[in-house]
Amino acid sequence: QTDDTHAMIEAHALVSQLYHYILTSTEEGTEALNYLHDRGLNDEVIRQFNIGFAPKSWELVTAFLEKRDFDQHVMIDAGLLARRDDGNAVDRFRERIMFPITNDRGQTIAFSGRLLPGVEGPKYLNSPETALFNKRETLFNFANVRKEIRQTKAVTVFEGFMDVIAASQAGITNGVASMGTALTPEHISKLKRVTNRVIVCYDGDSAGLNATYKAVQLLQEARGMQVKIISLPEKLDPDEYIQTKGVVAFKDFYEQQQIEWPLFLMRYLSLATDLSQADEVAHYVEQVLTEINRIENPIEKEVYLAELNQRTQIDKAVLRQQLAQRQPQPQYEEFAFQPQEQRLVKRTALD
Ligand code: UTP
Ligand code: MN
Ligand code: MN
Ligand code: MN
Ligand code: MN
Repeated sequence: QTDDTHAMIEAHALVSQLYHYILTSTEEGTEALNYLHDRGLNDEVIRQFNIGFAPKSWELVTAFLEKRDFDQHVMIDAGLLARRDDGNAVDRFRERIMFPITNDRGQTIAFSGRLLPGVEGPKYLNSPETALFNKRETLFNFANVRKEIRQTKAVTVFEGFMDVIAASQAGITNGVASMGTALTPEHISKLKRVTNRVIVCYDGDSAGLNATYKAVQLLQEARGMQVKIISLPEKLDPDEYIQTKGVVAFKDFYEQQQIEWPLFLMRYLSLATDLSQADEVAHYVEQVLTEINRIENPIEKEVYLAELNQRTQIDKAVLRQQLAQRQPQPQYEEFAFQPQEQRLVKRTALD
């Protein structure tokens, strides 16, 4: 590590403490703290995630860092300060609830700041990409989840930080989220180093469904990942589900409504398919059979064929016959996941 990155990490540690102090212990933080309380977060989880508040000031952090002899250029590079047109440095984050983003060692390397309700601007503002912070690789809460995964053996991928935090307070403490971007292959290889069981629990709206579709396909391309999907009803996101239906209902849904890819696909594709049109039915059946064809277990195959029959009214014998005409495809899950031997992993016929 260079001196600069060392200074960046030190500054992030100090500034995150400052923001947290302002949120929890000052008058300026009261409105933000009330907002978080109203959203159902308790003080314990606010402390755990080191949530803070950046007040409406151009120079609070600038002065704070200057007093501690941090180089202004380095702090601008770190994304804590911004350079104004007149050349002066100013605080980057103002009047936002601050979520520290940590690296794999648990050191704060960036922030995401959320607007208070009623304030104009983008809802979340993230730190820029820096020497320390690469969005394609960073997963919110990953450092904590690494420890947690030894117990639960699985990771849950959420869309937003608030979902990770709300789920954690509800007792589902194995959650991570990407930085407002789609899940990347870099994220997946990071996850693969610690577990082969992934639960995707994105928002129940159409953006969330589309993101689920893409994320699960990518996860399956990684091979050896066992993927389950939680598809929340009524366009709710996990945090909203917890708030409207309660912790117990969420945990029940989380435990009991994990579905596998073929069923998700049948539901997902049916949203964009007019099943009264023969050509659309044919296309739908085609796509679903391709996935059913990957399943090895004949009972599981039957389960999904029955579901497909229910949805399309196509005779099961016809579906079976269509399936029999296809080349057998290898399953996605071809090998046992061995974290220490990643480079020795068998390639499959699909590669
Ligand atoms: P959502 O719009 O689903 O936000 O975006 P949310 O997590 O439910 O947030 P709350 O509940 O309103 O506080 C999901 C994720 O997309 C990114 C953030 O990472 C957010 O957690 N995002 C969203 C941005 O980066 N910028 C935005 O303006 C909005
Ligand atoms: Mn309160
Ligand atoms: Mn969303
Ligand atoms: Mn959401
Ligand atoms: Mn939300």
